[in-house]
Order: sequence, then C-alpha cells, then structure tokens
Amino acid sequence: MKEIKRYLVTAALPYANGPLHIGHLAGAYLSSDVYVRFLRLSGKDVVYICGSDEHGAAITTRALKEDKTPQEIVDTYHTQFRDTFNSIGVSFDMYHRTSDPLHHQTSQDFFRVLNDKGEFVKKETKQYYDTEANQFLADRYIKGTCPKCSHDSAYGDQCENCGSSLSPTELINPQSTISGSKPILKETTHWYLSLDKYQEWLKEWLNNGTLNGEKLHYPEDWKNHVIGQCNSWLDSGLQARSMTRDLSWGVDVPQELEGAEGKKLYVWLDAPIGYISATKQWASDNGKNWEDYWKDDSSALIHFIGKDNIVFHCIIFPAILKAHGDYVLPVNVPANQFMNLEGDKISTSRNWAVWVHEYLKGFPDQQDALRYALIKNMPEQKDSEFTWKGFQDLNNNELVNNLANFVNRVIVLVNKYYEGLVPEFDEDLDIVGPDDEEEITYHDAEILRLFDNVDRLCDRLRKYDFRSALSQLMEISTNGNQILQHNAPWKAIKENPEQVKVVMNLLVQYLHTMAICLRPFLPHASDRLRALLDQKPLTESGELTDLCFQLCEGELPITNGHKLSKAKHLFSRIDDDVIETQIEKLKASKTQTANIATADSSLAPLRDTIQYDVFIKMDLRTATIKEAKKVPKTDKLLQLTLDVGFEERTVLSGIAEHFNAEDIIGQRVTLLANLAPRKIRGVQSQGMILMAENADGKLNFVQPSPESENGSQIS
Ligand code: MF3
Ligand code: ZN
Repeated sequence: MKEIKRYLVTAALPYANGPLHIGHLAGAYLSSDVYVRFLRLSGKDVVYICGSDEHGAAITTRALKEDKTPQEIVDTYHTQFRDTFNSIGVSFDMYHRTSDPLHHQTSQDFFRVLNDKGEFVKKETKQYYDTEANQFLADRYIKGTCPKCSHDSAYGDQCENCGSSLSPTELINPQSTISGSKPILKETTHWYLSLDKYQEWLKEWLNNGTLNGEKLHYPEDWKNHVIGQCNSWLDSGLQARSMTRDLSWGVDVPQELEGAEGKKLYVWLDAPIGYISATKQWASDNGKNWEDYWKDDSSALIHFIGKDNIVFHCIIFPAILKAHGDYVLPVNVPANQFMNLEGDKISTSRNWAVWVHEYLKGFPDQQDALRYALIKNMPEQKDSEFTWKGFQDLNNNELVNNLANFVNRVIVLVNKYYEGLVPEFDEDLDIVGPDDEEEITYHDAEILRLFDNVDRLCDRLRKYDFRSALSQLMEISTNGNQILQHNAPWKAIKENPEQVKVVMNLLVQYLHTMAICLRPFLPHASDRLRALLDQKPLTESGELTDLCFQLCEGELPITNGHKLSKAKHLFSRIDDDVIETQIEKLKASKTQTANIATADSSLAPLRDTIQYDVFIKMDLRTATIKEAKKVPKTDKLLQLTLDVGFEERTVLSGIAEHFNAEDIIGQRVTLLANLAPRKIRGVQSQGMILMAENADGKLNFVQPSPESENGSQIS
C-alpha cells in the first residue's frame, strides 16, 4: 500500500429539509470532526468536506408541505446548518451545497463522462404518474397498502411498519400523496448503471482490500457491521439502478443528450459528487489543487456516514468513481449506527428529537457538554441511547467532578503557593523511592506514564474508537487527581516543600497535555484550559506530534517560571430543574404528535401562543355564500361566490367531501378576507372561509349571528 500523504475526510451531506438533531451529530459529524482534528494535531495534510444535500424528494416533500419553493426550503436550512455546525464546533474546511452552480456543472460533467464511456444503458419502463399534478411520482410520493404486512400507509420505496424495502408497483391501492388521486403507469426512459457488472471487483475490493492485485485498504480496519451490510447486498446480487429521475427539482441531465428534457440526476448520484464539488471550491478558495486529493493514490479518502448510507458509499459511489476512472476509492467508511432518544427512535416527523440549534440556545457555552455525552455514547458498533438524565450525570460527574475539578485544584494551588509561576524543582528528588531497580525519578516516571496514556489515546483515535479514546482522555484526568490525592500538597507544603514543587510542576505538564488531548473532543474546553495556562488556542497544526516528542524525550512542555492565569471553572453543573424542563418539552411533543395522529377521533391540540399584534393582522369578515359549484376533476374543492357586503369574492374551499354545493347556498360564513390570493386550478382564490372541526373530524361553518350584516369586521 502507498504511503499516505494526505487525507480527504467527508461527512455525509445532510438533507436540507429539517433541522439537525443529536442523531446527526452522533452519526457522522462528531466522529469525523474528532478524527479530523486529531489528524490536524498530528500534523497531517487534511481537508474536511461537507455541505447541504439540497435535491431529491426529501426537499420537495417539505416544500410542498410548507407551501414554499424548494429553493426557499434549502436556503433556510443551509444557513441554519452552517451556523449550527459552526457553533457546536464541527470544523469543516468547506461547507458547500448541491444547489451551487459549481456542483451542477461538476455532476453533469461526471454524467457526461460516464455516458461517453458507455457505462449507462437507456431503458424504457413504466412508472407511476399523477395525472392531476401532471408529474411522475418519486417513490416517496406514492402511498399504499404494504404487500407484506398490510400496513395501510407504506411508501413506494419502503414500509415503515415492517421495514421491507418495496418498489412502488408492489403497493396495493397506490395513491399519489400530492393530489390524493390514483396514479397511472406511464412510459418513461432512464439512464441505468449496470451495477451487476461491477459485482466481482467490488466484492474483492471490499473483502480483500485489493483491486487488480494492488492493496488499497485493510478490510480488518473496517467495522464489521459495515462489511457485513455490504456483503449482504453483494450476496443478493446487484441490479442495474436508474441514475436519472423525472423531476422538476435537481441537477438537469445534460441537455444535449437525447431525451434529457425534464430529466434530473438521481439524488444519490448527484449528492456524493457534492464531495468533489466541495473540494473544488475549497481548492479554488485556498490556492490548492483539488485533484491531488481525489486522483492521487497517496491520498486517503474516508467517508463518515450513518448506517443508512452504507450501500451508497461502499458500493454505488465507489462503482461510479471507478467507472469514471482516475479517482481514488475510500480507504475506510467508518459508519456509525443510530442513536435513540429516551427509549424511542429519533424521528423528525414525530418531532422526537433534541434539535441541535435549540440545545445551543438553551445551553449557551455548553457545546462541549453535549459533544461529550454524544461521543461517550457514540453508536460506533451498535445503536445507542441518549437520555437527558444520562447527559446530566456525565456533565456533573465526569466533566465537573473529575475534569474541571482536577484542573481547578492544580491552578488554584500553583497560584496559592507560587504566585502562579510554574515551580522549578530538584530533578534528582525522588518522592516514593524506586520500587524497583530502575534509575528513574518520580517526575520522569509520571511523565512517561502520561506519554503512554497519550500514545494509547492516539492509537484509539487512529482506529476510529472514539468512545474508548475519550475514556483514555478521562483516565489522564483521573490519574492527575490520584497524584494530587496521593501527595496531598496541602499537607506536604509545610513538611516537604521541595516535594510539592515536583508534584505541582508535574501536574502543570498534565494540564498542558490535557489541553491538547481535549482538543479533538471538546475544542471549546481546550481553548478555556489553554487560557488558564496563559496559552493561545491551538491552531491544530501538529501540536500533538510535538507534544509526544517532548514527553517521550523527557523535555517538559511548560517551562519553569511560566505564569498561569487565575483559576476559573472549565465546566458548570447542570441542575435537576433544567433537565426536568427538557424532559417535559420532549414529552409534550410526543403528546402533541399523538393528538395529530388521531386527529379524526379527538380535538386538535392547542397551537403555540401568539401575541395580539399577530392576531390583529387578520381581517375577518362576515359573508354569505351566493353560489357554489364543484371544481372539475377534484374530490375536495368547491368554488364559492361570497357576498361580502361591499363586494363579491371568489373563494376555493376544500370542503367538497363534507357538503354538497347545492346545500350550502345562503349559508352565512366567516371569511379571512386579507389572506394573500392564490391561484388554484387556474382560479384565483381570494380568501378563506373558516370551519370548525369536531372531534370526529366533521366540519361545520363558523356562522355569524343573523343581526351582523355581510362585510362586518370581526375583532
Ligand atoms: N442526505 C443524505 C442523508 O441524509 C446523505 C447524503 S451523503 C452523500 O441520508 F453522499 F450524498 F453526500
Ligand atoms: Zn409492511
């Protein structure tokens, strides 16, 4: 295997369709961040890449739900993601986005090359088409009964009840989630990648790490669950996969190609190419050459992802890279499993999550408490669990009582005994006396033990064992506390002041070491500790390597007479009531979603409080329905003509399933009169009539009293 000269580390591009939660952090972002910071501290050449995944059904579904354009949705979340990653300390060198023109161009070029090389087969198939919405339906836009378990709202690609992966044509009673209508099968042509062609080399490359006899990686360094999942895909046989879609949102299939009109790249083709686009952007911003990182086989490409992304990063993307040619393949894909929350799966749609931006608001300056809890429980080999109580315990017991306490004691004592100046000590003074024949002093022995600790820590980081590396870090602090306890300087200072100098000098070296070792995990705390030592924040350019060298040579990193700052606590306690509030908040979201789920058998839950000035913006008027008729080709819509006293209004209302048009002529209604007009089915709807919903889902008109004439303002 080639010597590694540089690293390209990627973290899965998050879908810009909803905020980041702790599962995202624990899955791919903290693991990669810890690893990258470690590489930088080790003096390696590394680029750390990520960005927003802004295409695909995930985005358009959200846009549809919120009545926004896809661009509005991705703009909102892209900005939020960037800020959130920044505040929690995920240190990407480039955070890019797939709606960027550079990315469109990069992924189209990629597509052209594959096409020119004859890697695609064009095939005609039949796919579901919504004749009301006039569009082909992405798998996610089709719902129906699961053929395996009879669950009545399975998606076209997957049943969330029994977990089976499905194809849309297997669904019983398919229904478009866009219009609610029954979709028809319509012919369409797509570009397919014959994955089966690559089956053999993929198997060899994954399991032996070799390709055409050349050693490219060590499979024994890969996680078992990653290789296992890949093999189960490979064993069931790879099939051709369509690399294009009939969609309105995404990267256009290069328009010069025949039949490209209306076609977009499959999101799982375009998104991983986002790693390349992001590298290009980084390189052009920093005067570097992106190809060094992607096309030189002394580069190590490492993908950090969650387990649901394994097949795309270990099979499909490598196949695409190799089919294109010239690109390196990943040397490892250290995927994590999932993190659960308080005994339940994290779910964006059910609002069962701890949202990172909300955490940051609620716990300012405590970014590292969350980082600590998530790394400590990282789902490296199996699913793990986050609980608020557990979070509190880790913070209070490990960060406050162990780490912060140790740091504080050392700083306080050096300030108290030596006016903050690191004491010089007698190098020959041996405290406990040699317990064996070895000619080594206590100070030297403890520095060596420290070096051993750091060395083990590095070893674990190198192997992506972040949990265990973190324990190793805490062991340094535990050892430090023991050294303090054992030597009890507060007693010894009278009887044996020379001994105290040895101990305090030693412990200052411990703090210096810890500030560096903390950095990958808890970068904010590292900065705070460095400030206590009157040192600048680390620049992450080889400081860990320098430290190891010093420790192992017995050269003391902090020199005698160096002045420390005054003591200040590194971490603060988190009280019970704070935790209770978080648990209540989470529970409330569960009750609320439960209410929504059973909306047809119970009253809707209360919405959030609003202020009077929001309410008063609504212009509500009394009116009477003068005419009503069904909107052709829809199930739900009635077109109403209203008498609003001073004028007539046309309003479309989704009540056709509840009322016959002829039955409601003369009905008095309440109109929201200043709602922005909207064109629906070619008709301009000017406002909205208010309806009350019973516990059983039945709708009733909100009817003004007979004395109020049409057009009266309601307030
Ligand atoms: N957006 C995907 C997800 O959240 C991950 C995309 S990773 C990349 O599951 F390969 F596309 F970059
Ligand atoms: Zn099912």
